Amino acid sequence: MLKKYLFIVSAFVAAMAYFVFYEETENGPIEQNSPIVSVEIPNEFSELAQIGKLNYQSNCADCHGENAVGQQGIAPPLVHKIYEPSHHGDESFQIAVAMGVRSHHWKFGNMPAIENLTRSDVTAIVAYVRELQRANGIF
Ligand code: HEC
Repeated sequence: MLKKYLFIVSAFVAAMAYFVFYEETENGPIEQNSPIVSVEIPNEFSELAQIGKLNYQSNCADCHGENAVGQQGIAPPLVHKIYEPSHHGDESFQIAVAMGVRSHHWKFGNMPAIENLTRSDVTAIVAYVRELQRANGIF
């Protein structure tokens, strides 16, 4: 009985080791800062989203990446099903910016509050992110 148990455990460990090794050799080690998702850019943005894009680039892109693709080891993509409007409504963006975010969905650590942005600056950022999301099938 014990032998059988040990066999199963060691088979499992071997399988995991193989899996980890295979993953690393096949895809290479995951590079810090590399994009987490690939994002289709819509052909046109609304006027509000164009303003939002500028606000986004100067306040959010350092962490969430160009076009909100996320960055390995830094911050999640905002073009992601988790951030669809029914799960993270527009107000959750306002709160995230005003108060910061305690790490809960990912392992990147906390997001600090972002200073010097008004609610309307953030409304424009949300418009930009929503238009990116929609162009990527996230409603
Ligand atoms: C210093 C890096 C950093 C900057 C700058 C930053 N974020 Fe974040 N943000 C994060 C991290 C890390 C998380 C993930 C927290 C978690 O684990 O859920 C996050 C999460 C979020 C969330 C999800 C909130 C929730 O309720 O789960 C939103 C929305 C968001 N960020 C919007 C923004 C916007 C908009 C800006 C620019 C105004 C911005 N972030 C700037 C790091 C950053």
